Amino acid sequence: MNTRMNTQTEPISMERTLIILKPDAIQRRLIGRLIQRFEDKGLAVGGIKLMCIPRELAERHYAPHKGKPFYPGLINYITSGPVVVMVLQGERCIEIARTMMGKTFGYEAAPGTIRGDFGASRSFNLIHGSDAPESAKTEIALYFQEKELLDYAPPDRSWVFPANDV
Ligand code: RTP
Ligand code: MG
Repeated sequence: MNTRMNTQTEPISMERTLIILKPDAIQRRLIGRLIQRFEDKGLAVGGIKLMCIPRELAERHYAPHKGKPFYPGLINYITSGPVVVMVLQGERCIEIARTMMGKTFGYEAAPGTIRGDFGASRSFNLIHGSDAPESAKTEIALYFQEKELLDYAPPDRSWVFPANDV
């Protein structure tokens, strides 16, 4: 891990998750507002890039869904334009990000969630987030080299993630 400490406290990457702001989020100019939500929550960006996902990479990412009826449309959608791929880090960030994203389909997602506030469809649902530690590890490795990920300790870290948080 490429660790660059800026304080004497521990770095923030107790857990990492892969987030993709999907093509509809980029075309609708929502990048800033969506990242702002995660920063407000206390999660930190550990790596970030704007890219078009090659079809072969999309197929590897969504391999668990291969064969399902929605799979071809899913691959077409995720490769249809630029996306922002990022790693978020912070304690319990996988669960936190999934909760903030909301249910898969926008019309079912609760208000206050990203999909609930910005989405109305099944297929264009704005954002991807890893669903478990194993998938987070696999997905991060698909999009980032270890040297592209930075770790650091935001100065309010201990106020967001207190020690002995029982
Ligand atoms: P994601 O992987 O993109 O973060 O979304 P998710 O965990 O909420 O949903 P998942 O079950 O992993 O499905 C991956 C993507 O496939 C599309 N989908 N369509 N028509 C359908 O029944 C259906 N089910 C899933 C969605 O675009 C979903 O994000
Ligand atoms: Mg999923």
